[in-house]
Amino acid sequence: ERTPTGCPVSQRAAGFDPFEDGYQQDPPEYVRWAREQEPIFYSPRLGYWVLTRYADIKAVFRDNITFSPSNALEKITPTGEEANAVLASYGFALNRTLVNEDEPAHMPRRRALMDPFTPEALKHHEPMVRELARTYVDRFIDDGKADLVDQMLWEIPLTVALHFLGVPEEDMDTLRKYSIAHTVNTWGRPKPEEQVAVAHAVGNFWQYAGKVLEKMRQDPDAPGWMQYGIRKQMLHPEVVTDSYLHSMMMAGIVAAHETTANATANAMKLLLQHPDVWRELCEDPGLIPNAVEECLRHNGSVAAWRRLVTKDTQIDGVDLPAGSRLLIVTSSANHDEGHFADADLFDIRRDNASDHLTFGYGSHQCMGKNLARMEMQIFLEEFTRRLPHMRLSEQRFSYVPNTSFRGPEHLWVEWDPAANPERANK
Ligand code: HEM
Repeated sequence: ERTPTGCPVSQRAAGFDPFEDGYQQDPPEYVRWAREQEPIFYSPRLGYWVLTRYADIKAVFRDNITFSPSNALEKITPTGEEANAVLASYGFALNRTLVNEDEPAHMPRRRALMDPFTPEALKHHEPMVRELARTYVDRFIDDGKADLVDQMLWEIPLTVALHFLGVPEEDMDTLRKYSIAHTVNTWGRPKPEEQVAVAHAVGNFWQYAGKVLEKMRQDPDAPGWMQYGIRKQMLHPEVVTDSYLHSMMMAGIVAAHETTANATANAMKLLLQHPDVWRELCEDPGLIPNAVEECLRHNGSVAAWRRLVTKDTQIDGVDLPAGSRLLIVTSSANHDEGHFADADLFDIRRDNASDHLTFGYGSHQCMGKNLARMEMQIFLEEFTRRLPHMRLSEQRFSYVPNTSFRGPEHLWVEWDPAANPERANK
């Protein structure tokens, strides 16, 4: 096999398959060979060039003109005619939001929509997150075991996302139900027989998101990031477009929900796999903020991101013609010895942990990163305080096969309820 530029493809590059369990279980380990020997390679199976080193990936993020983010939300597995017809029948037109918008449109829009993410603005959401975390833990604290994903970590970030966006309470359940299909539709590899069902779910999600947006327009002074966008549109209709608002109404839920749910599940798994570290954290909760960064570095919830080459260029001496598609494996960059000393070591005191690329980097870097950090810190504060004696149950972890969004579907933990600190304190 050959690359589009006519070079031979190495055997390992030909075998690279991000939908395989090896990648799902541990992406940086799965591409260790590349990071060490062939830092950029062409995957004939995917039709993408794959980047695995920190410096290369950071340089790509830094130059969003040569490396356009326009393919970030493109379907990685093109769907068949039948599924496309289903999507069209719903008027599905998910388009540019922020994450996949090129300059010069992107920056003015990002700036116009930034204020709701300032630390002062985010403080308003903190009591809600804390209250939700306490209520959910109350429900299972006497059970001695829980699936933290099903019983807490999946639902709370979704509720927080819906509140942050400003979705009316009565529409939350419907949007909750539809949102998961979008991940499979964009980053997964649904089988042909699944594609049609996924298309119906995505089509419904799209239409419902449109209806919710119309409702928000009736009350543009209500709190919420979408209402903020609606108000900005009145001032700058060319910056905050209708297409942006409808697309973000749908994509924003996924951006804020699954990333954070998965990041917390990954973090708890990693911490409980290192009982000494977990004990240290319980004894000194002051370590939590840096532990969150180290968890995002070591086992983040976005494993890889995408860019499109807009003009002929080179990376590591490899020619990349305009039109080349890049899969940038940020989770591999986060384990690059060239940037992180003893990179595979899980060290919650690591002083450059926050250099990780899990939130991307540069002009498109995640706008919601401080909301995500706040949620993760609160979850860890509640767990270390109320369930310091929990441990990981025997289990095999499963992941939804896709290139980018990564977290265990279930996370079983157990503890002795008779030893709950709150019981002892009474
Ligand atoms: C962009 C990851 C949580 C909103 C991004 C990007 C990544 C990412 C990789 C693309 C960065 C780039 O191209 O350089 C994550 C992770 C999260 C998380 C790992 C949780 C742990 C959130 C939350 C929100 C959010 C809670 C809240 C609404 C956004 C937005 C963008 C973005 C609006 C687009 C920024 C732009 O293109 O200018 N995120 N995200 N994210 N994220 Fe997040």
